[in-house]
Amino acid sequence: MTTTTLFAGEDGFSSVAPRAPLPELPPLALYIHIPWCVRKCPYCDFNSHTATPHLPEEAYVDALLADLDIDLAAVYGRPLSSIFFGGGTPSLFSAKALGRLLEGVEQRIPFAADIEITLEANPGTFEQEKFSAYRTLGINRLSIGIQSFQSAKLEALGRIHNGSEAIRAADMARQAGFDNFNLDLMHGLPDQSLEEALDDLRQAIALKPTHLSWYQLTLEPNTVFWNQPPVLPEDDTLWDIQEAGQALLAEHGYAQYEVSAYAQPGKAARHNLNYWSFGDFIGIGAGAHGKLSHPDGRIVRTWKTRLPKDYLNPAKPFQAGEKLLALDELPFEFLMNALRLTAGVDAHLYPQRTGLTLESLGEGRRLAEQKGLLQVEPSRLVATPQGQLFLNDLLQYFLI
Ligand SMILES: C[S@@+](CC[C@H](N)C(=O)[O-])C[C@H]1O[C@@H](n2cnc3c(N)ncnc32)[C@H](O)[C@@H]1O
Ligand code: SF4
Repeated sequence: MTTTTLFAGEDGFSSVAPRAPLPELPPLALYIHIPWCVRKCPYCDFNSHTATPHLPEEAYVDALLADLDIDLAAVYGRPLSSIFFGGGTPSLFSAKALGRLLEGVEQRIPFAADIEITLEANPGTFEQEKFSAYRTLGINRLSIGIQSFQSAKLEALGRIHNGSEAIRAADMARQAGFDNFNLDLMHGLPDQSLEEALDDLRQAIALKPTHLSWYQLTLEPNTVFWNQPPVLPEDDTLWDIQEAGQALLAEHGYAQYEVSAYAQPGKAARHNLNYWSFGDFIGIGAGAHGKLSHPDGRIVRTWKTRLPKDYLNPAKPFQAGEKLLALDELPFEFLMNALRLTAGVDAHLYPQRTGLTLESLGEGRRLAEQKGLLQVEPSRLVATPQGQLFLNDLLQYFLI
């Protein structure tokens, strides 16, 4: 059985292409966006807004559940394999509010027996009691936004915490019963030397997280840093930091499995692995994105109303837009995720998740292989080390 789908052809006109049903639906995850922070960091372009003294927790939980109700049609009986509370600063929410939310979610979609439930937490919003209560709710993974352990660097980043609070946050997470936690660190910070960057990593490693996300600071449009750029390290220093940092992490048992993600054996983030293997996810909350597959082969991206005040306005719809991915967009959409993974993906995942054959990678594949950026083996699709360094160049071959 095939369904017929309209998609924009090269000439801008719609053409008609047959769409094959998917052999099986991908695993299903849930992303929940909490859009408030104590204050806005000058480098941040996420959908986060300065919190008012009284967060509308109850109204927001009601809205999230009503928003979820609309997406239920695309669940098709699948259990949730993971939930991720991202932000913003989800740890601003009380355990009571998050408990009511999780209960409401589970009433609507069953949880897989081994579900991973992650919450992003910021030092400066940590209270031991609250975190113990989060653990009791079934939240079994924390992602703590440390960024740096050096107070001067934290100040330059406009963070609300200092170095010792960063260490205390990790200690408190463990005491609250979180044996599985990630630390977010950034490098390439204003005026940062190689030694300073490595000191941050050494301190992080000493806290024994199961996972480390190590991002290079980027200047994003519409941020304070974009308009008033700080002095960042020279390219040579950035390169040295990257190389020495990767070696240090490997030496301590943190294997790189994605551009910025490092984990102890078996501790890769399941929620993120689902994104990178082109799995499905419902996104609820202000500005949240989703990607949902249908048995007839349609794959749809959704996005929700961005501003919290609009999201909370009953007169406005939760969903701000959706896009049916055209067949000829699927190679890029799949590879943009899968090639972030250091080991790439099993080649069978491509037909399974897109409904297309490997032949649909077409001319782009030939050119990318010729340039030594992509390796398509019978059993794997993977970016070469060169391709990983120049991922954007590699993906250009698959843009329509
Ligand atoms: C969703 S964000 C925020 C999580 C949390 N609110 C916090 O700030 O700790 C997740 C991570 O992205 C990273 N990040 C945010 N903005 C960045 C930027 N401009 N460049 C590089 N990494 C960035 C930070 O490490 C941050 O912890
Ligand atoms: S705390 Fe995190 S999400 Fe909030 S403004 Fe800072 S970087 Fe952005």
